[in-house]
Amino acid sequence: MAVTIKSEREIELMRKAGEILARTHEELEAAVRPGMTTMDIDRLGEKIIRGFGCIPSFKNYNGYPASICVSVNDEVVHGIPSKRRYLEEGDIVSLDAGVIYKGYHSDAARTHAVGTITPEAQKLIEVTRQCFFEGIKFAKAGNHLNDISSAIQAYAEKFGYGVVRDLVGHGIGTHLHEDPEVPNFAQKRKGIRLEPGMTLAIEPMINAGRADVIWMDDDWTVKTEDGSLSAHYENTVLITEGEPEILSLRL
Ligand code: MF3
Ligand code: CO
Repeated sequence: MAVTIKSEREIELMRKAGEILARTHEELEAAVRPGMTTMDIDRLGEKIIRGFGCIPSFKNYNGYPASICVSVNDEVVHGIPSKRRYLEEGDIVSLDAGVIYKGYHSDAARTHAVGTITPEAQKLIEVTRQCFFEGIKFAKAGNHLNDISSAIQAYAEKFGYGVVRDLVGHGIGTHLHEDPEVPNFAQKRKGIRLEPGMTLAIEPMINAGRADVIWMDDDWTVKTEDGSLSAHYENTVLITEGEPEILSLRL
């Protein structure tokens, strides 16, 4: 599948999809606290998304059974919400969500502290978020995809963190996953040239320890192999003639 350039009409719909997802994440962040289950987060997230008249895009995507991916501590991504999994003080929890508005997708993830967490965990969350911002410094027309990937890796590795290799970001639009793939680590090739109207989900997944990950028997949950903490930060981004537009974040 070729990389698509969105028209002004499509961009307007993706802005709306992004804004709704930004608001959804704001509401979820405010709700996160010790004692709730990961299923509580999924139920709330689905209610918020449907309240905006949108469809949660992850539900039933390739058989994924929930609306929000909820990944705790050493879980990297795609944790399946459970009514038996309680969030505890000191945990970190990654929430990944996607919405469809009038046929257009947005995709975004955040990692939150549950109550008070260790300074090490806080640092991982902050550096992972900053990895995204280091990457999008290069998300400009005329640059190449690998400029983004390299910047993310370089920033994460300055802190001794492991950059997950087995999962990558992606183009996004009328489908959740479109070309191109957007790795968070340097490639040998410089990748496609960025053009205005491209929309990318840029999503660093960063481990406090080594980069290696393993898949659980549920076929979804991805964990760090060494048991170290992992954080995730993602936004849907529009390439423009000038600065990139972060569609799924309200500043
Ligand atoms: N944000 C993730 C991604 O970009 C989540 C999708 S996995 C799903 O791949 F199956 F849960 F939808
Ligand atoms: Co994504």
